[in-house]
Amino acid sequence: MTTTSPALDPEALTTTTLVHPATAEAEWWRSAVIYQVYPRSFADSDGDGLGDLPGITARLGHLTRLGVDALWLSPFYTSPQRDAGYDVADYRSVDPRFGTLADADALIEKAHRLGLRVIVDLVPNHTSSEHAWFQAALAAAPGSPERARYVFRDGKGPDGEQPPTNWRSVFGGPAWSRVTEADGRPGQWYLHLFDATQPDLNWENDEVRAELESVLRFWLDRGVDGFRVDVAHGLVKDQSFPDWGHRTDMVSGDDEDDAGHDPGPSPYWDQPGVHDIYRRWHQVLAGYDGDRCLVAEAWADTPEKIAAYTRPDEMQQAFNFDYLTTPWDATRLREAITDGLTASDAVGAPCTWVMSNHDVVRASSRLGLPETGKGPNGIGADDPQPDAELGLRRARAAALLMLALPGSAYLYQGEELGLPEHTTLPDEVREDPAFFRTGAAEKGRDGCRVPLPWEADAPAFGFSPTGATWLPQPADWGGFAVDAQKGVPGSTYETYRTALRLRRDFRLGTGSLAWVDGLPDCTAERVLAFTNRELLVLANLGAEAVALRDVEVLHASGPLGGGLDGEVLVPHDTTVWARLRRDDAERD
Ligand code: GLC
Repeated sequence: MTTTSPALDPEALTTTTLVHPATAEAEWWRSAVIYQVYPRSFADSDGDGLGDLPGITARLGHLTRLGVDALWLSPFYTSPQRDAGYDVADYRSVDPRFGTLADADALIEKAHRLGLRVIVDLVPNHTSSEHAWFQAALAAAPGSPERARYVFRDGKGPDGEQPPTNWRSVFGGPAWSRVTEADGRPGQWYLHLFDATQPDLNWENDEVRAELESVLRFWLDRGVDGFRVDVAHGLVKDQSFPDWGHRTDMVSGDDEDDAGHDPGPSPYWDQPGVHDIYRRWHQVLAGYDGDRCLVAEAWADTPEKIAAYTRPDEMQQAFNFDYLTTPWDATRLREAITDGLTASDAVGAPCTWVMSNHDVVRASSRLGLPETGKGPNGIGADDPQPDAELGLRRARAAALLMLALPGSAYLYQGEELGLPEHTTLPDEVREDPAFFRTGAAEKGRDGCRVPLPWEADAPAFGFSPTGATWLPQPADWGGFAVDAQKGVPGSTYETYRTALRLRRDFRLGTGSLAWVDGLPDCTAERVLAFTNRELLVLANLGAEAVALRDVEVLHASGPLGGGLDGEVLVPHDTTVWARLRRDDAERD
């Protein structure tokens, strides 16, 4: 919806453009702030250097103090950990490295007692190659029901020595691997859009559909409030298996084409058939009490295609990665926000904002690179290093901008500490399959997965009682530790806490968005300004400070200056939340 309402301040000739009206308080997920816990790196209770479920349970107070509504747990299921748990060997058990099913139950129970909802990760596109089904498929003959649960095909060429198509793995290299048959001869090929240890399931197969529905029920019965659906746009493949030799970039979904051409529609991403699966799942969740939810990780091309996953009879949320991938540029961010809200409004779903996750360079480093946007796939010691101060300043401004937007928002653990990427990890400790499958051309995602610092002066900064960490923490992370920031005015942690409190008090999650144009000095190229209910939000992305008059500042991402006549000076790369002092402030 785009209407122009009367001037907010006639003297300043401001106009407001309503993009999104306030909505009624409804299901929790429409406005929730959800904290992503990456179990390997949140808190380690047993001292082996890898985080675990009891560690998370013991630290849930951090989330309630911060003021989030829910947590999303990345996978903790039994897994050989070839892709950090996104290679699931058994969907119904907890990997012993992370604990037991009883530990999962205890975590869910305590979270609920604290008023936190719990979302778990579901990985339906592929299993681990150690899953019993895949082992059975390897042992069985071509054409068998065991092989029909995966995507097995004969190769091309005289002896089938060529892969069935030229499809490429997201992690680099070919998307097909060849198996050795029982008689010892090279045999069929199986599809893996990710690592070779992550064979794709065949979603044409009813047994696969039934099994994953049963997995949903298993966790719903244990009380989870929802699922984050991994690679939700990848499950269905074009059964004619046409060639399409483009590698897709994670999260941005950009398809590589060396010649710079549009590679045309992919035969395996965002196929229309995926939506039938989510309509079924919607029904499964609807059979349970409470407002359970599904959130799609779908790297679709347009906001409309992403919103299609959240039509009323499908999922409840889909990550809007445009906010994450859009460069730090006022005009482009405004467009991304408008388009995201417009597309989700058209289907009656909340827009679900994301700034960071376990697959991208951390925001406070990404935004300190000369070229902002989605950023490189990892940073190494030999790469240009981010400007840490500028990056953190922008990340805080971006966070206050995001948390003022109507809809739901996800935070990635450590984001509330302003934690940077580990940009100088030695290659010997890297684990991301993308590092290996690209022949080290990409450093991969380990740098955003380093264990959290809790206490400045404890071994492993309080992550683990023994001081062990599965990835080394930078020596200077003490200043980022939770205990170094708690109660310190202006720290990143306290800045997030205040933002979350105000967001709740002002009901911003169910609020409105109207762009404000014409404020003095605030050209659209450098300043984003909008109202959400009675709050004025202004983000200065330009190089010069901007003066604001007649406002009561409630919160800011960094220090502000004072000008003449009570003016507030908003420096570069800073966001403020203010209340208009005038009586004609727009109210919903
Ligand atoms: C998703 C996950 C990522 C994983 C991939 C394959 O994109 O976020 O971490 O590697 O799926 O499961």
